[in-house]
Amino acid sequence: MHRLAALALCAAFAAPVLPAAEPIRIGEYASLTGKEAAYGETSHKGIVLAVDEINAAGGVLGRPLGLITADNQSKQGESATAVKKLISRDKVVAILGEVASIRSLEAAPVIQAAKIPMVSSASVNSKVTEVGDYIFRVCFVDAFEGNVLAKFAREHLGAKKVAILTSVSNAYSVGMTNVFKARFLADGGAVVAEQKYSEGDKDFRAQLTAVKAAGADAIFASGYYTEAALICVQARQLGLNVPIFGGDGWDAPPLLEIGGAAMEGTYFCAHYSPEDPSSAVQGFNQRYQARWGSVPDAWAALGYDSVLVLADAIRRAGSAEPKAIRDALAQTEDFPAVTGRITIDEKRNASKSAVMLTVKDGKYKFVASVAP
Ligand code: PHE
Repeated sequence: MHRLAALALCAAFAAPVLPAAEPIRIGEYASLTGKEAAYGETSHKGIVLAVDEINAAGGVLGRPLGLITADNQSKQGESATAVKKLISRDKVVAILGEVASIRSLEAAPVIQAAKIPMVSSASVNSKVTEVGDYIFRVCFVDAFEGNVLAKFAREHLGAKKVAILTSVSNAYSVGMTNVFKARFLADGGAVVAEQKYSEGDKDFRAQLTAVKAAGADAIFASGYYTEAALICVQARQLGLNVPIFGGDGWDAPPLLEIGGAAMEGTYFCAHYSPEDPSSAVQGFNQRYQARWGSVPDAWAALGYDSVLVLADAIRRAGSAEPKAIRDALAQTEDFPAVTGRITIDEKRNASKSAVMLTVKDGKYKFVASVAP
């Protein structure tokens, strides 16, 4: 046979070599190093687990998800830099992040201007999604959470006079205080002391002494876990034995590590209960532990869910174009996630139930679930 004909025959019978499917490039900005690496790390692990599971099951639209992560080093200014890189250099079609409202608020305007959809896992501050029509979240907002807490303080704790401690350098804490206060006052309660502090403060005795003098019958510590735990420790040392409660910013392992026995009988509002016996929560807990060797926290679960919701939107869009993904994200309805069923409302927020947890014998204990 002629040599060329033989070659042609080979080519005709050889199995077609398809080019490997081009990954769908998804960006993530997170605090992987620096002061807030605790939540950056578990949120990232939740995200990686979800991406790996989706890819193992064949990817989305026949393509794997390609996750590109940028570290903001827990530094102010670095979230905007991180997402600029993800957009212009890595050409991502969607962006996951952040946990902390303060960083989501920094990055969202850059992402909105580039018309790339962003999905925040855990930022509850109302202003985050108000940045624009490409900004979404898979958690509830502070307006809902503040109402849940005000109702809980009134009905469950029987509180009439509350004191509030606010971290004025944390937009999350400021937002939580505002919504809680408005609702508690509207319902006929009184706010007898309003004390301030800044992120990283360690001594709250002056504020707590003022709270004690004001005769508060409950204390709302609206900031994050580190300061909240120290507030509980120092309140008990000062003989302030009224109930202390907080928002989802309490929900992290350091709360119990720092607060120890002072956390007994305190309450906080959370995105989900790890004790929830549902197969979605327990299955996730098992897979996460098998992969990472540790128990997942709220950040891990919400990070995981942010990927699931995004992948579902890409699938329904039938396209990995940012605009098509945005439109599909906006249509998300009753999506079964680990932290609950997710419906995205017209303001691009998730309407979901919140759970109230308490600390008993050094462990979280479920108190009540509050539907939107
Ligand atoms: N909700 C917090 C914020 O908006 C972040 C957070 C989520 C903190 C979950 C603790 C647990 O900033």
